[in-house]
Amino acid sequence: MAKNKTVVDFTKVKPYNQDEEKTAQLARMFNTISGKYDQFNDIMTWGLARSWRRTSLLSLKQYNPKRILDIAAGTADMCIKSYKFLNPDHVTGVDISDQMLDMGRVKVEKAGLSDKIDLQVQDVSAMTFADGSYDAATIAFGIRNFEKLDLSLQQINRVLTTGGHLLILEMNEPEKGLLFKGYQLYTKVFVRMTSKLLSSDKKAYDYLQASMHAFPNGERLINILSQNGFKLNKYRKFTFGVCSMYLVEKI
Ligand SMILES: C[S@@+](CC[C@H](N)C(=O)[O-])C[C@H]1O[C@@H](n2cnc3c(N)ncnc32)[C@H](O)[C@@H]1O
Repeated sequence: MAKNKTVVDFTKVKPYNQDEEKTAQLARMFNTISGKYDQFNDIMTWGLARSWRRTSLLSLKQYNPKRILDIAAGTADMCIKSYKFLNPDHVTGVDISDQMLDMGRVKVEKAGLSDKIDLQVQDVSAMTFADGSYDAATIAFGIRNFEKLDLSLQQINRVLTTGGHLLILEMNEPEKGLLFKGYQLYTKVFVRMTSKLLSSDKKAYDYLQASMHAFPNGERLINILSQNGFKLNKYRKFTFGVCSMYLVEKI
């Protein structure tokens, strides 16, 4: 672990207050920023999120998944890219924010994929799908928000078929000293400036930064995944380690 990074309990990092459930606060927060989310995501990642999504999805191609579940689907970028790159029979996207999904539905319709992609309001920790319903699941920039991380991973494990794959893409702070300091400065100044320009909900962007700092990444996340029934196939860092990809398999 990096010497200059303090460990914060990620379950305590919430957008608005400590009393209310984190999931309810997050649904509200993402509803509020849904109209600006894509723009913010592009600016904050210098457009790199698009190539991170693409490259990570291509790692699933060799398994030829036919039923794909995208968790924390948001505005449906991952669902649409999954369909285009992996050619499955169907993609289901779930999210707790109905307004993020509404933005996604417009994009799905524009892409002419309404009969191939369906978007549902569901909390990952209490999904209603039958056991073994999916060949692959994906989570892009969503896992660090999950209030009940173990339960959520157990649910994902349950709805995947044995040998099915889970692909996780998540932003994190680089581990090493100088890069870590530089990245902190970048998020403090640039991201805060952008968030002020794009949104009235300043707390939302403070939360995004704080959750990135607190969420376990690398070995710590790989251990959590293995405690919840997954074995690691591939771990890869993108762009100086500001984004990581984990490809794991249900055992
Ligand atoms: C940063 S956005 C990512 C959206 C999208 N996957 C992307 O690639 O841009 C995180 C999403 O996670 C969703 N989310 C947070 N907690 C969730 C939960 N418990 N179950 C399902 N979705 C959740 C939020 O509503 C939000 O849309």
